[in-house]
Amino acid sequence: MRQPKLIKTISEWKSVRGALPQSLGFVPTMGALHEGHASLLRKCKSENSVSVLSIFVNPTQFNNPEDLSRYPATMDADLKLATECAIDYVLAPTAQELYPDGYTFRVQETQFSKTLCGAFRPGHFDGVLSVVLKLLNLVQAHRAYFGEKDYQQFLLIQKMAQAFFLPTEIIACPTIRDDSGLALSSRNRFLTPEERAHARHFPLLLASEFSSVEVKAALEKLGFKVEYIEEQNGRRFGAVQLGSVRLIDNVAY
Ligand code: PAJ
Repeated sequence: MRQPKLIKTISEWKSVRGALPQSLGFVPTMGALHEGHASLLRKCKSENSVSVLSIFVNPTQFNNPEDLSRYPATMDADLKLATECAIDYVLAPTAQELYPDGYTFRVQETQFSKTLCGAFRPGHFDGVLSVVLKLLNLVQAHRAYFGEKDYQQFLLIQKMAQAFFLPTEIIACPTIRDDSGLALSSRNRFLTPEERAHARHFPLLLASEFSSVEVKAALEKLGFKVEYIEEQNGRRFGAVQLGSVRLIDNVAY
């Protein structure tokens, strides 16, 4: 198997990008890759002649410093997965390179980004949208792939691309779950085995026939700390805290 080319500087990427053919697909991530990411990479690979993965733990989207400092870094395993998925380029820039402005310029959506997760994570979506705009501008992809697991993020990025006339098509990919129904997440590794077994109640109740108020009450009874259970845009969204881990999920409703 051919290894992807690892690119750590923007100037190197720019010279490589200039020589690449038109059909280019892009999957932005923060690393600590799992099967959810792999599904995006495989779809990207199947629809484009060249595939680019970015790995960048974006400091500006973490509203909790502890969450940032313990975010898992698994570069060797990530490169192995990228090789297995036949990805051509892995872009892994530093924060200094991506933020030459020191984050004095930022993108803000003023309505939807203030609801759901945005109501509990001040500044989070400003950081997400700002870094995704930078990455989309750098990579100049035809298509970029995002998971439905983070559906609010996907909608905001899709609307940002429309608002700023970005040439990249924003594509949604279904949520990948483990056998218990729990959505895969880089943070799931911080669940204890007991918490992991208990976590299955969250997707089960979210997809149940109960009302959102009843789902919230049932989760609280089971020991989850509930941030929100809310219906919007034809989906039911939820965020809960279980032990030290914040879980989010959503289902078509
Ligand atoms: P990260 O959490 O690494 O996720 C990268 C992409 O993988 C996102 O589009 C996310 O929705 C998708 N993903 C994660 N878990 C998934 C699952 N279980 N099933 C399907 N897709 C899944 O989301 C981010 O990084 C960052 O906010 C980023 C967009 C890279 C900006 O920094």
